[in-house]
Amino acid sequence: MKLDSSACFIFFSADELIRSNDSHFPFRQNSNFHYLTDLDEPGAALVLVNGESHLFVQDRDESREIWDGERYGADRAGGIFGTDEAHSFQEFFTKLPNLLKGATKVYYQLADSSDRDQRILKIIHESIPARGKGTLGNLPVYDPMPLVAELRIVKDIGEIKLIRKACSISARAHAHILKVAQVGMSEFELATELQYFMQKNGLREWGYTPIVAGGANATTLHYVRNNEVLKDGDLVLVDAGGENELYTADITQTFPVGKRFSEHQKKVYEKVLEVNQAITRIAKPGISYRSLHTEAVNMISDALKSLGIPLPEKESYRRYFPHGLGHYLGLDVHDVGIYQEQGKDFLLKPGMIMTNEPGLYFRGIETAYHGIGVRIEDDLLITDSGCENLTRELPRAVDEIESLRA
Ligand code: GLY
Ligand code: MN
Ligand code: MN
Repeated sequence: MKLDSSACFIFFSADELIRSNDSHFPFRQNSNFHYLTDLDEPGAALVLVNGESHLFVQDRDESREIWDGERYGADRAGGIFGTDEAHSFQEFFTKLPNLLKGATKVYYQLADSSDRDQRILKIIHESIPARGKGTLGNLPVYDPMPLVAELRIVKDIGEIKLIRKACSISARAHAHILKVAQVGMSEFELATELQYFMQKNGLREWGYTPIVAGGANATTLHYVRNNEVLKDGDLVLVDAGGENELYTADITQTFPVGKRFSEHQKKVYEKVLEVNQAITRIAKPGISYRSLHTEAVNMISDALKSLGIPLPEKESYRRYFPHGLGHYLGLDVHDVGIYQEQGKDFLLKPGMIMTNEPGLYFRGIETAYHGIGVRIEDDLLITDSGCENLTRELPRAVDEIESLRA
């Protein structure tokens, strides 16, 4: 990655979000800001310019800290987070014009906050006199996302360690609910069993809202209501993963609410498992996500035909497999990173992590499989010669699942 040394990068922390009246959602740092600073406070900004890093943080304030807890404050933050300078966030907009002096371009993600955008664009506009009374025009503003995504797409050893732990604990939490799920339990109670195991083992937060979908609810891809009762004879699809220092796992399993799969459920499940396992065998550096998706589509189409489902057109499979094979995984569950570059498929490299989540969903379709939804999702770390399934601790074979359900 080549960076123009006269570029100025500006990044902001996430804002706190109100849930109801005076009560907030749990604070979740902006992923780029966490990646670049490790600081998990709101009210902060990072400026990179002239080879220097400037961190702006909220002030110490005893009257607020009584309510919300200790803050770092500018005096301590520079040393702790390793930036060249640390300032009060109160000074951000007054210091920015000086920091921009000499910059020939700005990297800042517009549209995060319209109020902040207005203030930053105004400062950029006012920098024109400093750039030669208009002859050079406004400082151009670029989105930093492609550059940060290029860094984030390949994980370093420390990041892999964090994701490995998130995946291992989440996989074991899924194995745990295979043992404790019961007919008559609510979907949200099953989510709580999973969360209890995860939290007991060190993962504090979900990486995304869990999906616990009994019966035909599994055919709604992002079913998050989780408020129905699990019924004997149904399958339950559970898509949930825990976060470890903001790096998340993303796992889906599908298993019988009762003791055994029905014949139809088992047929669908085994077809999906075949695809999942084939992808794990072939994922490696030098091939693209796109080619893995195509392989999955071909296998899913063959599976549908063998289940007796007519596929009159090339795209007919989409009705039963409407999503992609997977996505990159990291700080965001749908992590940043490109899938195509200048019209060509982007090739996998060691250190990339992708999900492998084929599925089959029979929604609103009158076949013998009506109401069945199956997804099997693992997290694959691309290695030098192939891939490592980071979620392999979760049993997947029908007989293993049935023996745990019994
Ligand atoms: N958990 C969302 C997904 O699997 O993409
Ligand atoms: Mn998932
Ligand atoms: Mn996923």
